[in-house]
Amino acid sequence: MATQPTLKKTVFLLTLVFILSQCKHDPFPAPPGVINNPHDTVQNPVDTNNPQTGKPCHPDTIYYSRDIQPILNANCAYSGCHGQGSSQNGVNLSDYNSVITTGDVRAGNLDGSDLYEVITETDPDKVMPPPPNTRLSAAEVAKIRTWILQGAKNLDCDDCDTANLRYTTNIKAIFEQNCVSCHGATNPTAGLSLTSYTQVKDALLNTNLLQRIKGSSVAPVMPPNRPMIDCNVRSIEKWFNEGMIE
Ligand code: HEC
Repeated sequence: MATQPTLKKTVFLLTLVFILSQCKHDPFPAPPGVINNPHDTVQNPVDTNNPQTGKPCHPDTIYYSRDIQPILNANCAYSGCHGQGSSQNGVNLSDYNSVITTGDVRAGNLDGSDLYEVITETDPDKVMPPPPNTRLSAAEVAKIRTWILQGAKNLDCDDCDTANLRYTTNIKAIFEQNCVSCHGATNPTAGLSLTSYTQVKDALLNTNLLQRIKGSSVAPVMPPNRPMIDCNVRSIEKWFNEGMIE
């Protein structure tokens, strides 16, 4: 009769284990081949609780908003290509969630990430951006590579230094890098040259330049379709509000 309670106990324990296994909160492991599936937000979460947000940028970390989105904005995510509302082949590269899903980015998996595959493609018929557009630079490809290997997360950090802004030390370079290819010294686009202190100052006072770089609904963003990184926009606006010191 000693076996009777043992059997009951075993049945009870097995039932308990079964019930508990049904209450498990963790997702079931992904089947082989779809590990790190980017469409699974549990495995590849948008890192909204990133402890680094609002803190200095760590030198070894790739931050999506600072390092990756600007590359995509400048080379892919504009109207007619992979911008919002003009997603060629259904690929929209204008924000993190769309990049992960429509760019088919798989955290830690370079071979499985379509986005990485097309930017490193050697076949001119398949490479992105397609010729005659210039390929991404080696440094840009390396950033995207490291970002994927670091988990393709939506990290943010802030090292925008807006203290003591001056035209010669801070502002001039922003205009040189982002505007003078069109608004240069000779024959400038829209008759607007932005190559000297006086020209930049006059443009800020007499045109809608601030609205244009912020991309308000009033007028299309400048540079056309390729908004600058937030730090540049903030710096120009703060410099303007502080009286445009040369
Ligand atoms: C790829 C070329 C290109 C680049 C780069 C570019 N612009 Fe423009 N910009 C244009 C064109 C074209 C126009 C005229 C059409 C329009 O207003 O949208 C224009 C117009 C403007 C105007 C309106 C001028 C007026 O008199 O109303 C402002 C202000 C301006 N750009 C500022 C900038 C600033 C600031 C930058 C850099 C942060 C910049 N643009 C970069 C092509 C460019």
